[in-house]
Amino acid sequence: MHHLTYSEEELLSSIPYDEPLTANGVRCHGGFVGGAYRSPRTAGRGPAIAAWQAQLAARGTPLLAIAPALVPPHYPSAAQAALLLREGVREPLVRTLTTIAIIEGFGAMIRDQRVPDLTRCVREPLDGTAAGHLATGLFEAHARDEAGFRSEGGHKQMWEAARDLALASPPVPPDVLMRLMTGRRAGSRQRLFPQLDGAFEELLAVMVNVLVIEVFAADTFGWAEMVLGDPEVSARPREAAAMVGYIRSDETPHVEYLRTALSELRACTLLGARGEALAGGEVIDGLLARTLHVLTNQRPRLQREETRADIAAAVAGHRDAAGLQKRFDALEEEWSPPAHTNRYS
Ligand SMILES: [Fe+2]
Ligand SMILES: [Fe+2]
Repeated sequence: MHHLTYSEEELLSSIPYDEPLTANGVRCHGGFVGGAYRSPRTAGRGPAIAAWQAQLAARGTPLLAIAPALVPPHYPSAAQAALLLREGVREPLVRTLTTIAIIEGFGAMIRDQRVPDLTRCVREPLDGTAAGHLATGLFEAHARDEAGFRSEGGHKQMWEAARDLALASPPVPPDVLMRLMTGRRAGSRQRLFPQLDGAFEELLAVMVNVLVIEVFAADTFGWAEMVLGDPEVSARPREAAAMVGYIRSDETPHVEYLRTALSELRACTLLGARGEALAGGEVIDGLLARTLHVLTNQRPRLQREETRADIAAAVAGHRDAAGLQKRFDALEEEWSPPAHTNRYS
């Protein structure tokens, strides 16, 4: 087994590359070894996560997993998106890809996530665990992967490159960021476990939320690889799909460190602000159930309504608007979330 304690420098270090990744003329993170893409900041982070997971397995602690059946399918489907592109209706897809790029950039906020003194919030010691390394490398590596670091591009720039490769640098609707900002007034989260220190509950809620978003994003990656890799509608199918594939592989450590840390905390006794004991499983599972409920019900429904309105507006400019809308609607696929919220492997 590899060791369990890592310095911040180790968790942020990358392997040596033969050649860096360049996207749209921007030097990005990651690079190629023997022609294969290798993600950034995995020289220490990769073995660290493997070691923490092995430690959980040795203790018989289950590793948290989100059931694939819970993942809402991307709307519009790949077939619907390809139909629109074949018919020259590009704006909705350009908007979607630009929105994804901006949201990736917002990922930098994870470095500002406050981590309270965990020795006061958790009864068991967290040395040699993923949960014990959040503020000393894991959040910072995550932030750099999403938004880039210094002169080096990250997922934001890589999504823009995938869009521009596939759609030959299309004009970007001017209101993408504005729309995103006005739709984002989430307000403060309701406390589920008011016995816990507020900052600690907030940390757990953010980790659960980001984990679910990261897992759900995998479906969007598959969708984008299909659409942007379709030679019938993509200008540079091979390069565009490969770019999405690189981003996808960089997301793996995000899902893995978050589910590892949450699994560790699930197995712990959490301490309330007045020293009362709460089972980690009860807290993590409660937060997870709430997040899954919102992200499998309200959110996909709202997203679908908004996207449908954008598409209808864009289709209205087509020479056979009614016919195209009909063909688009004929490709609709129904999806409703399963009643059951989760399982653990
Ligand atoms: Fe990302
Ligand atoms: Fe991510």
